[in-house]
This record gives sequence, C-alpha cells and structure tokens, in this order.
Amino acid sequence: MPTRLTKPHCATIVLAAICACSSVAMSDEKVDVLPDAARGQATAERLCISCHVISEDSTAEVPAGVPTFKGIANKQTQTADRIRSVLIAPHAPMPDVRLTRIEIEDIISYLDRLRAPEAGPPLHPKKKKVAPKPERPEPT
Ligand code: HEC
Repeated sequence: MPTRLTKPHCATIVLAAICACSSVAMSDEKVDVLPDAARGQATAERLCISCHVISEDSTAEVPAGVPTFKGIANKQTQTADRIRSVLIAPHAPMPDVRLTRIEIEDIISYLDRLRAPEAGPPLHPKKKKVAPKPERPEPT
C-alpha cells in the first residue's frame, strides 16, 4: 500500500471535515446526519409508546384501535413520504409531537426493521444523508 493519499481517501477526509463543521453548526439539534433505527426506536419508546405498540415484545398498555408500528410498516401502500407527511402534520387523534427531520428519518429506519420483505421494498431503500439545515443568513 502506498502511503500517499489516494483521491477517494481525500474525499473521505474532506467529507468528514464538512460533517464535523455542519454538526457544530447544528449543535442545537444534536444530530449525526445518518438515519439510525436504534435511535428511532429510542425516540418511539419515549414519545409514541403511550399509544402505539412499537415492537413485537411490547407489553405497554395502549388504547384500542391505534395501528401498531408493525402494521404501519407493513401497510400495503406505505411509503416513507406518507409517513413523513403524517409525522410533519399529524391529524387528531395523533398528537403533533414536533419531531425534528432526523427524528422522523430515524423512525422510518426503525419501521424498516419491522417491515416484512413481502410488504415491498424497504421504506428507506438506502441510507441517505439528511441534508443539513441551510445556514440562515445573518440579519443585516
Ligand atoms: C395520543 C396517542 C398517539 C401518540 C402519542 C402517537 N400516535 Fe401515531 N397515531 C395515533 C392514532 C390514533 C393513529 C391513527 C390515526 C388515524 O387512523 O387516522 C395514529 C397514526 C399514526 C401513523 C399513520 C399510520 C398510517 O399508516 O396511516 C403514524 C405513521 C404514526 N401514528 C406514528 C407515530 C409516531 C412515530 C409517534 C411518536 C412520535 C406517534 N405516532 C405517537 C395515536 C398516537
């Protein structure tokens, strides 16, 4: 292996530097840009478990008639966009818990874990980076 950095390595370093900067810029939102199913599960356990059955082995008491996460994940016509729109602007009786974009993507990743192959392709076909928030220009 030559010690000289190859182009792909440089790109990785540049990318890492950009990521490091953008995470500082977004420090109020504490995100680490890639959607993460485990984090989605943790968010769901915090915010959704009072109404939804969120995992197979959940023993939480939930109101009757609320769809389970498994049901949501395996719904025939389900898409990531549909879930995003439900979570961005929920209708009653779904409360608006004001999730951040990355929390929504995390939850979609978690739903993918509950999605059976027969239900169709994964909701997140490939882990995609969530674009960081654009910098707001300083007021002049
Ligand atoms: C207060 C109870 C309550 C809480 C808390 C709640 N939900 Fe819901 N949710 C509902 C009910 C009831 C429905 C069904 C609404 C309907 O049928 O119109 C629903 C529907 C949904 C749907 C749409 C399912 C579909 O395919 O149509 C999604 C997605 C969803 N919830 C996700 C979440 C997530 C994620 C959280 C936590 C961040 C959450 N919900 C928290 C009660 C709740």
